[in-house]
Amino acid sequence: MSNILFLVKERIKHFFSASGPKKVHSPWLYSLYRAIKDQNTLSCDKKMIIRNRRRQLAGNKSALEFDDPGSRGGRVQSTVKEVFSRTSKPCRQAVAIAEVAAYVNEGSILELGTAFGTTTMAIRFANANRKIITVEGVAEIAAYSKETLSFDSNTEIIIGRFADVVPELAKSGEKFGMVFIDGHHSRRPTLDYLEMLQPALAEKALVVIDDIYYSKDMFQCWQELKSHADFQVKLDFFYFGLLVRNPDLSPEVLKLRI
Ligand SMILES: C[S@@+](CC[C@H](N)C(=O)[O-])C[C@H]1O[C@@H](n2cnc3c(N)ncnc32)[C@H](O)[C@@H]1O
Repeated sequence: MSNILFLVKERIKHFFSASGPKKVHSPWLYSLYRAIKDQNTLSCDKKMIIRNRRRQLAGNKSALEFDDPGSRGGRVQSTVKEVFSRTSKPCRQAVAIAEVAAYVNEGSILELGTAFGTTTMAIRFANANRKIITVEGVAEIAAYSKETLSFDSNTEIIIGRFADVVPELAKSGEKFGMVFIDGHHSRRPTLDYLEMLQPALAEKALVVIDDIYYSKDMFQCWQELKSHADFQVKLDFFYFGLLVRNPDLSPEVLKLRI
């Protein structure tokens, strides 16, 4: 079965099997879920700033050439417009990630896969207090994320491959209250990055794995993560999976509609 067919089939299955707020009993989780669903943390002005930046990038016909850091490899000859439409997620999904970030009150926030920095921008708007570290493998794309995030002195953009940067970050002494893995969407690397970062997670930490239905391989990755012993709660929002490390919460695995 092709990836597209797989995605459509799983989307339909998720639609019919996912639950709503009534299934979430813990008050803390309920409030997090409502925040992700209702998206009220960012003001209209902030959402407008994100939309305007997205519009600029989506209309930018400038050439963009780079070496693909992903599994396909090779030289990519494209435009900003095309690469942006391929890498960025819809505004509502970016804001959903930002709503998760609003719940982080210890440590820094780490994003693997900056792309053009528009989700990073939403994260910053949702949480003004935490340092953000974001990693991008393509310097030519990171140049645009620097423009997107030029207003923000508390966000560090690291240019480098995850395989090189993650081990360095894991031993840097930095503690992460949130990790958002949004690049190199394959089972083995995702599990490896998470394992490397495990000792650097804050006592209560949120880990977002994007695109858990991107491929059968990523779906398999999520199936394994659902039984990860270090996280009490695992939430499947279809577009992303959320692992919650919080010993105060009862173990739970839920599929939720957003
Ligand atoms: C899906 S995009 C990130 C989207 C971004 N988080 C957002 O929400 O707008 C993934 C990014 O990760 C980068 N990337 C993929 N594999 C990588 C790797 N192994 N090391 C470093 N960067 C990588 C790609 O260049 C791409 O810009």
